[in-house]
Amino acid sequence: MLKMHPKLDDNDLFLRLFHKGIKAQWSVEDVTWDDPLQFDSQQARSLARLLSPVYLGEQSAMIGASVALPQMAMAGQTSAQLYLSSFLMDEARHFEVLTRLYTRLESEPLQIRELPTMLRYHNRLRQGDRIDWVWGILISDIFAKNFYQQFSRSQPEALFGKLSLRILQDESRHQAFAENYLKQMIPSLSVDRVRVLQEMKDELMDIMDTMYGRLNDDAMRLGLDGREFLDELRAEIEYKAKRIGLDGNLSSDDEGSGTVRKVFQGLSSNVFQKASDLTSKFEALWPSRCDTCFVALLCRSRLLQTACS
Ligand SMILES: [Fe+2]
Ligand SMILES: [Fe+2]
Repeated sequence: MLKMHPKLDDNDLFLRLFHKGIKAQWSVEDVTWDDPLQFDSQQARSLARLLSPVYLGEQSAMIGASVALPQMAMAGQTSAQLYLSSFLMDEARHFEVLTRLYTRLESEPLQIRELPTMLRYHNRLRQGDRIDWVWGILISDIFAKNFYQQFSRSQPEALFGKLSLRILQDESRHQAFAENYLKQMIPSLSVDRVRVLQEMKDELMDIMDTMYGRLNDDAMRLGLDGREFLDELRAEIEYKAKRIGLDGNLSSDDEGSGTVRKVFQGLSSNVFQKASDLTSKFEALWPSRCDTCFVALLCRSRLLQTACS
């Protein structure tokens, strides 16, 4: 039921993310399109192909938000409804920016007929309810985030590296929302509904595996290790699933330094100690959780791991 005069709580996380989103808006006019590409023509073509699923995901997220937003309004979830309006603007911007990037690359994305399973996945997301949609978009956003991170780190002065960094700042809000929304909603779901959400995760990972198996030559041309990328992606998605309660609940000890411990599991205690020290320096900042923290980009980088080993 639509609320005529809903109450709004200034401490509501979704409302705070909405305000942050409003303040962080930018447009294609803020991008320096003359920045160097740092790709030869073959690499530009490979990026165009590899970026295709992310590009489709950006457009699908924008369209899907327009479906989920009225569902949240009718459920009386006013702060989520407000947040989603800024999310929609973010995804529209990402879609526009990547559309212009393709012009600069002088290359075309893969055609829809070359991404049939991915297209079906996104189409089905829009037909599910708002919880299915938020979970599906979270998985898709994690994939996009990891892809953008590769280039924001490896090409910080190039056009796509800089674009990636801008987009990543928006995506950190998206992940904070999705994770917290699902943490609130999942405990009320039936076992069958939870199982459907688990299957969605497995299905998308299988689609990614198949697709990137076919695009391995393009990945190698850009210096990406496709297998390693997918393995890290799967581990991160499984971890998120646990955090939101899809694969059993984590204890409160898993927040804060416990999060760092999990991320660095298997590495030397020296690495863990360095990462914990780094995290503790930023505990006063909001948000302080590792997955939404800017410093986590550094904490989790190979640079730090190598330096501490
Ligand atoms: Fe996006
Ligand atoms: Fe997103």
